[in-house]
Amino acid sequence: MMLHRAAQARVFVDLHHRHHRHPRALHRLLTSATKKNPRPLHRESMGPLIELCARRGFVFPGSSVYGGMASTWDYGPLGSQLKKNILDAWWTDFVELRPECVGLDTSVILHPNVWRASGHVEEFTDPLVQCNACNHRLRADKLLEGEYGLSPESVAATITDGGMVGLSKELTRVGAVCPACSSPDLAEPANFNLLFNTSVGATSDSQESVSNVAYLRPETAQGAYINFSNVINSTRKKLPIGVGQVGKAFRNEIAPGKSFLFRTREFELMELQWFIKNDPVEAEKWYRYWVDACLKWLSDHGVDQTMVRAREHHSDEVAHYASATTDIEFDFPGLGWGELWGIADRGTYDIERHIDATIRNGDNLDDDCTDSVDDASHKRKMKKKKKKMEKKAKSHPLLYLDPETGKRSVPRVIEPALGLTRVMLAVLSSAMDVESIPSTESSGEDTTRTVMRLHPRLAPIKVAVLPLLKNRPELVSMAESVHVSLASRFSCDLDVSGSIGRRYRRQDEIGTPLCVTVDVESLSDLSATVRDRDTLKQVRLPVEEIKSASLDDLLKHFK
Ligand code: GAP
Repeated sequence: MMLHRAAQARVFVDLHHRHHRHPRALHRLLTSATKKNPRPLHRESMGPLIELCARRGFVFPGSSVYGGMASTWDYGPLGSQLKKNILDAWWTDFVELRPECVGLDTSVILHPNVWRASGHVEEFTDPLVQCNACNHRLRADKLLEGEYGLSPESVAATITDGGMVGLSKELTRVGAVCPACSSPDLAEPANFNLLFNTSVGATSDSQESVSNVAYLRPETAQGAYINFSNVINSTRKKLPIGVGQVGKAFRNEIAPGKSFLFRTREFELMELQWFIKNDPVEAEKWYRYWVDACLKWLSDHGVDQTMVRAREHHSDEVAHYASATTDIEFDFPGLGWGELWGIADRGTYDIERHIDATIRNGDNLDDDCTDSVDDASHKRKMKKKKKKMEKKAKSHPLLYLDPETGKRSVPRVIEPALGLTRVMLAVLSSAMDVESIPSTESSGEDTTRTVMRLHPRLAPIKVAVLPLLKNRPELVSMAESVHVSLASRFSCDLDVSGSIGRRYRRQDEIGTPLCVTVDVESLSDLSATVRDRDTLKQVRLPVEEIKSASLDDLLKHFK
């Protein structure tokens, strides 16, 4: 708890020191955009959001009582509810409401050959560069983009054309230095694999053997591919079919840095694998369809459209498994534009790799059948084996059997993949607002109000019920009965103590769309005041009407 407070204090000190400003000037920075500061502070840096998240119970720094663990975060009472609400909204809209879609929940630890076949063991890498002076380790591509202004496309092209040597030349060309200690003494960049290794079953140090090695999944997608036939056979669905999956993913990121929830080593994914016929025209249609559907979903859930853009990858930039990718990017405070939602045409890559790997089962038949092998009988044997394998491939269970034509083919996949924790950061960054409220007091000083304008579907608490006076048992008991009725339908808070102004401020900061205040008059007119978070308008409604209303019914009064 003490460290947590210290961390909060550091953020405040940082804010004040960075701007060396009088509190009134700081107030201006927080609340308004001027010509000099085109964006208010909470859109310029992550500091105000991190501070609010820790103070109000959205997100706490990880393992703080042990001094903290870099780039790990724990989700508090409000954060875990917000995360669940985002996940539920995604699951409803992308799985439950779509007749072609079904859900799946596969293991975090899959057979290690899955990751060999998918290419992750060999190719799921980032370029690592280490400073020889201070041992700071970072991503060479991000160094070129972040410190030297190179575009992601040009850095990707450098890696495609020249690999690590090309990257090294580029670092020399721009005169790259270590961002931590400014030393120019950087080691040669090298590929660093992001898979988290683990070992399965009882082993001793001396026994550490290849057969025990397994990987924590870096994406949920492979679990869906290897279960394609199980899903098709058990649901009797036809293409197109969507398989939705949510869950934890792990990537040993080189330098997540101070990016809050943006880049962490453990995070949650919400992925849809949209299986279609392998037809380029159909693929293009669905690829565009999913980009539009994802953009609409963000806008429908209050993600600020001025902070969103869709960027199509240059062919050098696409991941090893994809033939085309569009990133929906978000302008993260303090970080700039970064990937939020990746929509990829994965072609037939993954399923083909799994078919190939499972029929070979470790045999490299091409090598065995080369002319360099002299033994004629061995060659004959291997050719026979290869034919048998080819036959097996033609009836492989991962192929789609078209019920109309009776033909088997490899399905193609369009995949919209969204990070749950990353979209939560986009939702919070969009929602956070610091506004000026003209004072009614004689001093004439404006006051500020921090308000999380969360979409009601996502808000962790939908309605707060507040008895005006804590020491009037009749008011408290009436508020309790309103709370009990509403809480049976959606998440509510009963907040009894503190001045009414402070209680409103707290609810504004945590994004509660509506507050219901039970006051002394309520005892005689049997009505209560409903206050809208965004407009600050208030309406008086009969208590019985409030108790039986849906959230939409209540919100309609302020539209
Ligand atoms: N199955 C495809 C796939 O995993 P990706 O672009 O590597 O694609 C999908 O990741 C999404 O996961 C990203 O768009 C981003 O929202 C999120 N994501 C990726 N790496 C992350 C990390 N280290 N921390 C938090 N979220 C991450």
